Amino acid sequence: MTSLAPELVEPHLTGGFGRPYLYRETCESTQALLDASQPEGAVAVCEEQTGGRGRLGRRWDAPSGSAILSSTLLRPPDGRRIAELALVGGVAAANAVEAALALTAQIKWPNDVLVNRRKVAGVLAEARDGVVVLGIGINVNQTRDELPADAHPSAASLRTTDGVVRERAPVLARLLAELERAYAKWIEGGIDALYVDIGPRDFLRQRRVTLNGLSGIGVGIDRAGRFEVDVAGERHVVESGEVTYER
Ligand code: BTN
Repeated sequence: MTSLAPELVEPHLTGGFGRPYLYRETCESTQALLDASQPEGAVAVCEEQTGGRGRLGRRWDAPSGSAILSSTLLRPPDGRRIAELALVGGVAAANAVEAALALTAQIKWPNDVLVNRRKVAGVLAEARDGVVVLGIGINVNQTRDELPADAHPSAASLRTTDGVVRERAPVLARLLAELERAYAKWIEGGIDALYVDIGPRDFLRQRRVTLNGLSGIGVGIDRAGRFEVDVAGERHVVESGEVTYER
């Protein structure tokens, strides 16, 4: 398959995100290629990461040339809650995945994008030196054998979902356009302004969940991007955490 080299991606770009476009065949992590010296909307992409990272210190692995491994530099206004950007990235990834697959994508708070209950994309928001590096990984062309076998939720790629091996460049360009749109809405009106993209996709709503030592029924993502749980009739609002759930 073709690469995500600049000459193949730039013709698909429709907005400001992706300019400049930093591209490497191999890197430790695209998260490490961006810093505060770059402008908002700068994007780093590589074909293979030797130290790709997920949330909570986990690894994020994909065979060379199979996935979208991207990081985008953001400069959110002072005082905004950085954790909300994981949902902003989730909305962008869900929209890009839906456009590629023509299937509904769901968002598992705070940062997973699922199709048919399987995770196809993940988001990692890291703040440093007054900027945020927003990493988004989308599993595109991995075969079943190339996906982690022991992940929760279990992993899928666009290919294992619909059998299609696809060009990654248009999917990446769509992701960046969706991210620019979602981020602009968030700047204007916070998660509330994106709620139309989040509420109907909320995977954990009405599921039996456990997070931060609380077990109950997921009420859902609220209009501030936090997660509400009903524990024996009492509502708890959680700002961050890792959710486990029952089917
Ligand atoms: C998660 O679901 O735990 C977050 C996964 C984030 C993966 C992406 S791939 C591009 C960027 N570089 C990294 O090292 N991680 C993010």
